[in-house]
Amino acid sequence: MTSTGRDANAVLTRDAVTGAFGFTGRHIATRLLADGREVINLTNHPDRSDPFEGRVNAAPLNFRNPEALVTSLEGVDTLYNTYWMRFARRGSPHRQAAQNSSVLFEAAHAAGVRRIVHISIANPDPNSPLPYYRGKAQVEQDLIASGVSCAILRPAVLFGDEPILVNTIAWMLRRLPVFGIPGDGQYGVQPTFVGDLAAMAVAQGARNESLVVDVVGPERFTFDEFVSLIRAAVGSHSLLVHLPPSLTLMAAWSLGILMRDVIMTREEVDGLLGNLLVSRHPALATTRFSDWLTDASPWLGKRYIPELARRLPTLAA
Ligand SMILES: NC(=O)c1ccc[n+]([C@@H]2O[C@H](COP(=O)([O-])OP(=O)(O)OC[C@H]3O[C@@H](n4cnc5c(N)ncnc54)[C@H](OP(=O)(O)O)[C@@H]3O)[C@@H](O)[C@H]2O)c1
Repeated sequence: MTSTGRDANAVLTRDAVTGAFGFTGRHIATRLLADGREVINLTNHPDRSDPFEGRVNAAPLNFRNPEALVTSLEGVDTLYNTYWMRFARRGSPHRQAAQNSSVLFEAAHAAGVRRIVHISIANPDPNSPLPYYRGKAQVEQDLIASGVSCAILRPAVLFGDEPILVNTIAWMLRRLPVFGIPGDGQYGVQPTFVGDLAAMAVAQGARNESLVVDVVGPERFTFDEFVSLIRAAVGSHSLLVHLPPSLTLMAAWSLGILMRDVIMTREEVDGLLGNLLVSRHPALATTRFSDWLTDASPWLGKRYIPELARRLPTLAA
């Protein structure tokens, strides 16, 4: 047995990770490589800087060519799926992402993949007014219907070495004299450390039973507390003010134009205000956001981490 409990004599030693050079995917791939597994990266950005120095080969994540996806997945034991679209240049990104995920699951089934470990989100809901949460629920249903053994892991918001949301908040707090909190700030945030999520994903890859579970951290904050904690950690003197959500959205939109990025979408604000970034289940991740924040405070928010720039080639397609 290996450190993650995987049978070292298992026949297939190759796994596939969507976005293995991305945020969650990189942490999963790191653990798999440490476990002696071969990893292939299913991606539309094979030229992104390679953290694994050539140890991970890339194959296209081309949903318009399911046959090629099947070929790429042949000989793969476990598919770790982190694929999702936060936004798109046109059309409905979440519906498109759900349809694409379904193509991926069918390809995995056709290729004989044993197990799919899928990263979803806390509180997906087929009846949600928010297409993001409806789309995530659809993907879960399609995965369960695919007939491939699966584990579905649901974090709410992630932190770690590339924490887009937390870093953007810190970046704003370091630079702006005023920080607008949408609404009353009493809705919750329950962050998950990306390393905890990756560890759980890899452990689940070695198993066979189906599982659907929230993966959230041990600390739960109101958004007011969350922003205040980050403010103190980065030594910001920014004034925190509560504003109507539409005003904060307009401010985020204007800042987004300046930074050539999508800072926050209306749906993300609605999800936040709807208390969807917390779990109703016990915490399974153990790393405390407040401890991590103390360590991260020297670098957090010093540099803006752009999301759109990383996506431009895909979004332009
Ligand atoms: N980050 C969070 O705070 C958070 C919170 C809750 C749930 N989640 C879920 O966790 C999973 C992984 O999130 P992550 O932040 O680690 O993702 P990520 O690394 O930014 O991206 C993961 C994958 O999605 C693809 N992708 C992302 N945006 C795309 C776009 N606009 N068009 C086409 N492909 C796109 C990437 O493709 P390439 O390899 O081609 O780049 C990669 O395969 C997602 O399902 C996400 O919904 C994340």
